[in-house]
Amino acid sequence: MSTGRVAGKRVLITGAARGMGRSHAVRLAEEGADVILVDLCAPIPEVEYPLASEEDLGETARLVEKHDRRAVTKIVDVRDAPALVSAVDEAVAELGGLDGAVANAGVLTVGTWNKTTAEQWRTVVDVNLIGTWNTCAAALPHLVDRGGSLVNISSSAGLKGTPLHLPYTASKHGVVGLSRALANELAAQNVRVNTVHPTGVETGMRPQSLQSLLGEERPDLVPIFLNALPAVMAEAIDISNAVLFLISDESRYVTGLEFKVDAGVTLR
Ligand SMILES: NC(=O)c1ccc[n+]([C@@H]2O[C@H](COP(=O)([O-])OP(=O)(O)OC[C@H]3O[C@@H](n4cnc5c(N)ncnc54)[C@H](O)[C@@H]3O)[C@@H](O)[C@H]2O)c1
Repeated sequence: MSTGRVAGKRVLITGAARGMGRSHAVRLAEEGADVILVDLCAPIPEVEYPLASEEDLGETARLVEKHDRRAVTKIVDVRDAPALVSAVDEAVAELGGLDGAVANAGVLTVGTWNKTTAEQWRTVVDVNLIGTWNTCAAALPHLVDRGGSLVNISSSAGLKGTPLHLPYTASKHGVVGLSRALANELAAQNVRVNTVHPTGVETGMRPQSLQSLLGEERPDLVPIFLNALPAVMAEAIDISNAVLFLISDESRYVTGLEFKVDAGVTLR
């Protein structure tokens, strides 16, 4: 028998190969969960920074297994709904059920309004918004009879008009609308749906062009990115602790929440 705050729960996590997805997986495993780890493990042409590799995904699984929990890995693109459904169905069969999902996979493209391309819009909305929906939709058939918890990772840019990446900000606001509506539709079946809104966290999501745009073209916009609390960035673990709470039964009456772990950046 496992012990911990999510003992025995089985949780799907997308974008699990590195960064915050890896941190969520390890934190949940520490507290007794088995996990399904999904990642693309390949680059996306519109995204200027490298995405995770197959080795990264394997390393997340290894870190989970160190806590004596099970990890099932699947290399899938969250944009590919049928592939995601079959990967999740297979993994759920292996683990014997599902109790929650964390839609964490996301990408960021950068540019002023007049340099933003149709390809950027399509890619970012496809991964961040439709990919979040695909994750919820793949998890839900396994949750509706017994209840469960969906955690959709948005951003401080999901609550605030964060500039210089319009498709990202729009997609993360979209995640809020999707989650609120879904929370209403699913409450009767005891499925909870919440969003998490991190401020900046040091991960592989590091487009160099954002720094140069802010430094050289639009220094007037810098204050919008500054946290209220005296911390330049949060750490992945800070966000994972919020995810852990929302997956656990400690939050059994929490649904439709926008959980900010944002060091006060959205207060400004
Ligand atoms: N880092 C930040 O400052 C920050 C702030 C707020 C919100 N977020 C959000 O947190 C989440 C995690 O981001 P991160 O900072 O850990 O970034 P990251 O780039 O390190 O990790 C994202 C992971 O998602 C995977 N991925 C990307 N596209 C995918 C696809 N189509 N299908 C499957 N997997 C895919 C990548 O390979 C990578 O492993 C994202 O939704 C991001 O928007 C990040």
